[in-house]
Amino acid sequence: MPSFEITHRKRLEKAARQAAAKSYSPYSNFAVGAALLTCDDKIVNGCNIENASYGLTLCAERVALARAVAEGHRHFSALFIFTATQTPTPPCGACLQVLAEFAPQLRITAVCDTELTLEGGLDDFLPHAFVR
Ligand code: THU
Repeated sequence: MPSFEITHRKRLEKAARQAAAKSYSPYSNFAVGAALLTCDDKIVNGCNIENASYGLTLCAERVALARAVAEGHRHFSALFIFTATQTPTPPCGACLQVLAEFAPQLRITAVCDTELTLEGGLDDFLPHAFVR
């Protein structure tokens, strides 16, 4: 693996971990952090933000994406997700569909508190995204 890629992976994992530390998740106690790498090598992260209504909860991946788009980024190459669990947590279907709008080729990596990782292209996680 080229060293620039290892550096990106380390930065992305750190950004996802830092985002998880900011999670507002008093209802589930399940903190999620996500970090997106833009095609011009910027990292934008986000955490899940829960709500007393439950249904209005925002997932970490969509918070990171919304933040990035609002900052002017529309092209992304990689996403890291961190949860403090024994096994990695994949993005939910809703997040995958929203990510597919901007980055159908996105590389997704989920990391956790063990060595286990879950990795693949967005189309591995969501093979038939709805597109128009
Ligand atoms: N969650 C995410 O942040 N990302 C996902 O892809 C799945 C679920 C959050 C939502 C909620 O705050 C908590 O995890 C438990 O479902």
